[in-house]
Amino acid sequence: MVKFDFQDTSEITLPTNPLEKIIGQDEAIRLARICAIQRRNLLLIGPPGTGKSLIAQSMSTLLPKPHQEVSVLHNPQNPERPIIEVREEKDIKREEISGINARILEPEDVPAFVSERLGFRCKRCGTLSSPSIAFCPNCGVDKLSRTQSSPVNWIIGMQEEQKTTRVHTTRLVNGKEEIMVYERFGDKIKVMDQKTLQKLEQLTKQVPRKVIIPLDRKTFIATIGASETELLGDIKHDPYGGHQQIGTPAYLRVTPGTIHEAHEGVLFVDEISTLAHLQKYIYTAMQDKKYPISGRNPTSSGASIKVDDVPCDFILVAASNINDIHNILPPLRSRILGNGYEILLNTYMPDTTENKIKMAQFISMEIKKDGKIPEMTAAGVNEIISEAKRRAKLFDAADNSLTLRLRDLSGIIRLSGDIAIGTENELITSEDVKNAVKQGRTIEEQLKSKYGSLFNASMNESSYEKDPNASKGIN
Ligand SMILES: Nc1ncnc2c1ncn2[C@@H]1O[C@H](COP(=O)(O)OP(=O)(O)OP(=O)(O)O)[C@@H](O)[C@H]1O
Ligand SMILES: [Mg+2]
Repeated sequence: MVKFDFQDTSEITLPTNPLEKIIGQDEAIRLARICAIQRRNLLLIGPPGTGKSLIAQSMSTLLPKPHQEVSVLHNPQNPERPIIEVREEKDIKREEISGINARILEPEDVPAFVSERLGFRCKRCGTLSSPSIAFCPNCGVDKLSRTQSSPVNWIIGMQEEQKTTRVHTTRLVNGKEEIMVYERFGDKIKVMDQKTLQKLEQLTKQVPRKVIIPLDRKTFIATIGASETELLGDIKHDPYGGHQQIGTPAYLRVTPGTIHEAHEGVLFVDEISTLAHLQKYIYTAMQDKKYPISGRNPTSSGASIKVDDVPCDFILVAASNINDIHNILPPLRSRILGNGYEILLNTYMPDTTENKIKMAQFISMEIKKDGKIPEMTAAGVNEIISEAKRRAKLFDAADNSLTLRLRDLSGIIRLSGDIAIGTENELITSEDVKNAVKQGRTIEEQLKSKYGSLFNASMNESSYEKDPNASKGIN
């Protein structure tokens, strides 16, 4: 029994960093931190409920925000081969900024030669008027006239002048010469600097596109027993086969896989051994850092469509139970080890005061996470700790230890909370925990206490099959 410095779990202060919330797995956490910083892969081995998913998730919170956006562009030359475009955050931002940079000015606010060329200012008296008025309202001179006024020149000149809707000039910015463009904008003048012009140029060049991996996205993508299409992406079927008028164009039907969605983030593959042959795709993608998206169903209209070089630069965090390690493909393990770590999670930790305090922290966290159960008294916490000790002995034959098979233990915490609510206690008491432990016993434990051992239980079962009355003790 520890004498805690709190009365109940509401007084426990919890760490804010997700990795610090994980208890008893210090080595795994140390490596997870390194993996996040150095972009290495991680294979987590351990029994259910020891924190594999939790470590993977928490690790992804250490990654910087993604800075690339991936789009598929329509390919006019070959619509069935849409093109990939990767844009950096800074380029996207610059475009947004340049959009605002186009200023609208009054004709009097631009240099005289500009307003003259755009047809606002009279060349003779300098009066400003709308470019739609050909003659100066002040002096009556033809605003568009040229110096030589032969009829031919007049016609050609007028046509040229009327076309002058843009004036290009230059200005010095930080000692560098930059282009400035003034453009007629109704009765006003639009001024564009170099950045705005670049954007305009891009807009005119721009082809239809679909953003498949947006800039604003999660850095944690989980895949469980994935299908090929979930993992690698697909091209949606179109009953009209992408027909120009009535169909959906190929680039709009491109769907990324989880390997692409995890670009710049963590791809978490739970129970990796169950992926069987799909593991091969994962290690190819890890190696190339890009993987094509193509139609995966040979009978679908998407089958003829393929997008090459779709980026998928992810950190792989894979999880497996100990018994399934041999089902992980050796080339995949070699790629993880070649650029990362394999780690066996702890199933128990020494029963020290420090670890008991960590256990109290864990209980407090589970209560907050559940949200529907009351806080627990210090005596209740001690009772959970006793149960953690009993379980370490029961499942791992570990003396003086506390179990780290924490999902099961959190089940007991929840159960005791439900019991407390039933008894209208304001807090979860040690009595509630004791009752929860009794109720929360596994089937194996229940069989053991009923029949003395699992062996006896199974013998009893087989004699029941031969003679249904046997278990009732009738014979
Ligand atoms: N080391 C730990 N520290 C804190 N909480 C833990 C820890 N391990 C497990 N838990 C608790 O158990 C729950 C289940 O953990 P998690 O999902 O990470 O287990 P897992 O190892 O991925 O299990 P599985 O093999 O079944 O997928 C967590 O949500 C958390 O409440
Ligand atoms: Mg898990």
